[in-house]
Amino acid sequence: MAATVILTYKGRGRIKMKKRDYLEVGDLSTTGVERVLDIATRLKADDYPGAPLEGQTLGMIFTKSSTRTRVSFEVGMHQLGGHAVFLSSRDIQLGRGEPIKDTARVLSRYVHGIMIRTFDHEDVRQLATFASIPVINGLTDMLHPCQVLSDLMTVQENFGTLEGRVVAWVGDGNNMANSWLNAAALLGFELRLACPEGYEPNREIFERATRATAVTITEDLEEAVRGAHVVNTDVWASMGQEAEVDARELAFKGYTVDAELMSLAADDAIFLHCLPAHRGEEVTEEVIEGPQSRVFDQAENRLHAQKALLVELMGGRG
Ligand code: CP
Ligand code: NVA
Repeated sequence: MAATVILTYKGRGRIKMKKRDYLEVGDLSTTGVERVLDIATRLKADDYPGAPLEGQTLGMIFTKSSTRTRVSFEVGMHQLGGHAVFLSSRDIQLGRGEPIKDTARVLSRYVHGIMIRTFDHEDVRQLATFASIPVINGLTDMLHPCQVLSDLMTVQENFGTLEGRVVAWVGDGNNMANSWLNAAALLGFELRLACPEGYEPNREIFERATRATAVTITEDLEEAVRGAHVVNTDVWASMGQEAEVDARELAFKGYTVDAELMSLAADDAIFLHCLPAHRGEEVTEEVIEGPQSRVFDQAENRLHAQKALLVELMGGRG
């Protein structure tokens, strides 16, 4: 976005630079993602100096529920020397109809960055357009770019690199599938999706990814998973789709990651799920609790990856 903000680097005075948002993975360049993952790995290893966001505050707007996103951002800001303010849409004036563009400009006078979780991706774009501080997408109906950063970190932790790895997506072509497509397009790994008819990912995002890397889509789970290094799934009905639960149960019948499906993947394959999970629907208890599951490392990595993202966007430098 175009606004210029003053960022204060510890010991380096005040400098002017363009503010940067993180609404989708592509908002970081390929090297930006690599840098964030590198900082995240250092943070996790306790090898990153000082309190890079000392004196800074993150406003966190939530119009949907959250466990991981809320806690990891709040704890992350604290660990970086800053502070986070939880803003439930039930309590702030946004929930009573105050325009997003006003909320954006008011919050920009109080805090140094905004993280928002909401329904419509356009609302996040508008917030970013009117805010003069960095805006981070903490999940929309369209995308969940913070989650995919931690997923990439988890893949890298297990395989050393993403290069040459094949990622399989089983289930809904939802915000997570769209985010994996964006990540594949940016980083160039192979992505195979297995989605039921009518539940494919966003067409524009899919087509852009196919122009950038090897992406396939099928209704055949086995075809998608055979030989894959990462097997990834998510709930059949996302937040906001509660009225569709029954129809989705029918449509997704059989789209379950079970031990038999996992046995088709590479011998060293890992299982990922952004959580919360519905055992017995998109994944069996045996797989999510089994030796190939990395779901709790993946959840932990939200903290490290987002701290690195905050450092990248809000001006801290080691
Ligand atoms: N994976 C994820 O975003 O979890 P929460 O909904 O708990 O934040
Ligand atoms: N697709 C899920 C992800 C939750 C983290 C949802 O949007 O509800």
